Amino acid sequence: MPSSNKHIFIGRIVHSLSLKKLEILPWAGLGIENDTIVFVDRSIKSVSDARKKYPSFATAASTVLSSTQFLFPGLIDTHLHAPQWPNLAMGMEGNLAEWVRDYTDPIEASYSDNEKAKRVYSELVQKELELGSTTVAYNSTIHYQATNILADMCLKYGQRSIIGKLCILGGATHHNYEKSVEQSLEDEEKSVEYIQKIDPTGKLVLPCIQPRGGPWAPPALMDGLGKMSQNGGGEKLHVQAHMCETEDDIEKMRKVHPGFENYGEMYKSHGLLHEKSILAHCIHLSDVDIAILAETGAGVAHNPNSNTCLRDGVCRVRELLDKGVKVGLGTDCSAGYSTFMLDSMRQASNVSRHLSMRTGDDNNTLGFTEIVYLGTLGSAGVLSMQDQIGNFLPGKLFDALLIDVGGNDCINISGWEKDDLALVKKWVFMGDDRSIRKVFVNGVHVAGKDKPKKAAWLK
Ligand code: GUN
Ligand code: FE
Repeated sequence: MPSSNKHIFIGRIVHSLSLKKLEILPWAGLGIENDTIVFVDRSIKSVSDARKKYPSFATAASTVLSSTQFLFPGLIDTHLHAPQWPNLAMGMEGNLAEWVRDYTDPIEASYSDNEKAKRVYSELVQKELELGSTTVAYNSTIHYQATNILADMCLKYGQRSIIGKLCILGGATHHNYEKSVEQSLEDEEKSVEYIQKIDPTGKLVLPCIQPRGGPWAPPALMDGLGKMSQNGGGEKLHVQAHMCETEDDIEKMRKVHPGFENYGEMYKSHGLLHEKSILAHCIHLSDVDIAILAETGAGVAHNPNSNTCLRDGVCRVRELLDKGVKVGLGTDCSAGYSTFMLDSMRQASNVSRHLSMRTGDDNNTLGFTEIVYLGTLGSAGVLSMQDQIGNFLPGKLFDALLIDVGGNDCINISGWEKDDLALVKKWVFMGDDRSIRKVFVNGVHVAGKDKPKKAAWLK
């Protein structure tokens, strides 16, 4: 009788081992037990090999991949504004401040309507899973009820996520701000408690502390949020915030936080920078900022599509990596025009090439191995989850995509079909959701073109 909680995959396996090492196993075995990877074994060539070598898998179910298929790690989006999803592709005319005023503040304010939150977040979470984003660090809005609805949807559809209520007091328009420091902190606490209640083990959904950024949260609010994230010396809570997105952003931060020249010093002084802090953009960092990010273990969410659309500037990814700062990728919907993480990887590649051309220093160019790392294991590091997700090492959770590039334009007739690396490049640079046959989170088949027989969320 097949065991329902064990599964053997036989076929091509692709994953990052480090920034500089992409491992492609042309034909190997991978075994999972419940949500966890038990073995990845290049000596295994068939299901019977696996059953013999791992006796506890003797009755496990199995999947043998075809020659155009491979397992790829689930994509990890370190920065996405869920409420802004309906605005995708809108508002590329203005700069950051104009775009926030004309597009972002109005739509975010509208999430006082819980019905709207249910409609948008239900569709968004399913769409993100179809696009292969197995983990997303979401920004929400100032409404704790809508934030909790987003958490409900992630749990319902089976997406790993980091979610928080956005805290905004000043600097916003269209009434997209809260009444007081006390109210903002109280509502953040409500969301943290709610998320910890609906997912007590944090198996899927984790809470997050979210000051929007320097101009929008005064010192007293930053201080309260920092204390909350420090969690009384216990397990720290994630933090997600914007940092050094434009020169204007930095100028405004200095006005709201007198005495602080650098964003990094300001956040650090409130206890907001640690290994579970996600800082979006980080384009105009000073040397002091970079040193603080490296020293505190806080990570950067690089959003190349968004940075280009808003003309914020160019994030110096190579310099950050060389100086020991963790970097991952985000889509930053809706400042960019895509929530597909492969788009973020492609744009990270292109933006880095523009930086090389501008500076005359080819070292800025991010290679193929590096962009795959940034969208998977690098992003896992930014979320401080590199020991749980990001690649297929035994002991990690099975968050995976079963990719099939067969049948896609120019694969079968290109002559590349026997070249393992070429197939992966075709996927990363040219693929779309038509190639995503199955999406697994925690070992559960939750989405993909081969629909789960029984939707995971109906169990
Ligand atoms: N700064 C403050 N709010 C936002 C936002 O929603 N998107 C981006 N890109 N930057 C911000
Ligand atoms: Fe953002």
